[in-house]
Amino acid sequence: MRLFIVISLSFLGITGSPGCVHQMTTRTVQSGGSVTIPCSYSISGKRDEDVRVIWGETDQEYCSSATAEDTIISHSGNVIEKYKGRLYREKDPNRNRTEYITITRLEPTDVPRFCCQLYDIRYGHIFEDSRLATLLQFPGTEYITQLDEVMAASGGEVIIPCYYSKDISDITNVTWYFADRETNDCTHTRIQEWSNTHQYDRYSLVNFTQDVSLRIHKLHVNDERSYCCVISTSTTRATLKSEQFTRLVVAEYQSSWNQPTNNITLQEGHSVTLPCSYTLPSDQYTERDVLRVNVYWRVGNVTGPYAYHPYQKMVHSTYRHRTSITEMTNLMIMNVTKADNTSFHCFVVVKRCAGDYQYDDDIQYGGGTRLIIKEYFTEPSEPPQMSSFGQEALVLAAYVAVKFFIAVILVVLGCVYGRAKNTKRST
Ligand SMILES: *[C@@H]1O[C@H](CO)[C@@H](O)[C@H](O)[C@H]1NC(C)=O
Ligand SMILES: *[C@@H]1O[C@H](CO)[C@@H](O)[C@H](O)[C@H]1NC(C)=O
Ligand SMILES: *[C@@H]1O[C@H](CO)[C@@H](O)[C@H](O)[C@H]1NC(C)=O
Repeated sequence: MRLFIVISLSFLGITGSPGCVHQMTTRTVQSGGSVTIPCSYSISGKRDEDVRVIWGETDQEYCSSATAEDTIISHSGNVIEKYKGRLYREKDPNRNRTEYITITRLEPTDVPRFCCQLYDIRYGHIFEDSRLATLLQFPGTEYITQLDEVMAASGGEVIIPCYYSKDISDITNVTWYFADRETNDCTHTRIQEWSNTHQYDRYSLVNFTQDVSLRIHKLHVNDERSYCCVISTSTTRATLKSEQFTRLVVAEYQSSWNQPTNNITLQEGHSVTLPCSYTLPSDQYTERDVLRVNVYWRVGNVTGPYAYHPYQKMVHSTYRHRTSITEMTNLMIMNVTKADNTSFHCFVVVKRCAGDYQYDDDIQYGGGTRLIIKEYFTEPSEPPQMSSFGQEALVLAAYVAVKFFIAVILVVLGCVYGRAKNTKRST
């Protein structure tokens, strides 16, 4: 009902400026731990300098920009008593119109949902919110979690994870649905219901009941939709649906992706940075419409395991804590081993605001690199190969040397000229 009113109001153009305010629907947290919740927005008709992000808490599923009494941090940075000393906010250093709040020393008694709201400092009011609040999920409670985004290439297969927080062997039935992105309705269109391992057409579960994640075979670009997991258990007999559905983003497969465009040779134990680039299709949208950029790096081929994924949990164990992203999209691998003697492929998913609370995802292949790893001791006769870092150091050294040489010449010339002048004056 509330959502209906919100949608009707915004349809009539009553609630503020057209655009999007985006935050996640769920975060899994630990008691005593901390959580960081991002919020990004794209608004037209307001100047950036007039807009401030503020945060509120709610026990409702939807945020309400009409009520300001539940604000936990105001536009001027005032934090309510309950969160004093454990709530911080920061702006994303790399992206305009993206901010985070971090809350530490979490307690299950904290109101579990947080709302990102936009405040106009000129008119002194909240004019827009994210509609859907971020729910904190504490251990010990019963819930389902899904990733908010999964990417894949057409032709292959994909797994859309679904995790149940309680005893998974209690699950008796699993139903996967297509979710409706606009109304956030999880059970919009049923795909299939499972009570065993049966494969229906291209759909199957990974391993009922150990893993009720959805596997889609022979992926097609039309499979780019939203997916939602619902379970029934023998203990409660009620159904439990996921609060967070997954957007599956599918790139159209191209055979050229199998030929990496760069080669980098380096020795075992060194670190390396692999390049990845993407371009915004500037005829369709601009940087102002971009809400989020997710980067994925896959190993071996474009369907291989992840060397980097926005969710640490999805990163293959040999790369966890060894990889990071630099300059927005490049992959840094530390302490390379013989097992890294393979290719690495980058995908970039740009989420953008395509209208009033309408989202669009654009997936691009960001390039591939073949790493050639030289073993440390085996080839003593060959000159040592240099990594791109080594080459950079050499270029830097040459640059410094040339600068030093020019400086020396200038000093010498200066002395000679000075002397010549002095000699002239004394004559
Ligand atoms: C952020 O906004 C400023 C001012 O409009 C602009 O100069 C800058 O390029 C923007 N930064 C990014 C990362 O887009
Ligand atoms: C991609 O790599 C995986 C192992 O990483 C392998 O099992 C699979 O066959 C490869 N697929 C293609 C199309 O080469
Ligand atoms: C890395 O791969 C190349 C090409 O496949 C191979 O010649 C080389 O021996 C491999 N290096 C190691 C350390 O396995």
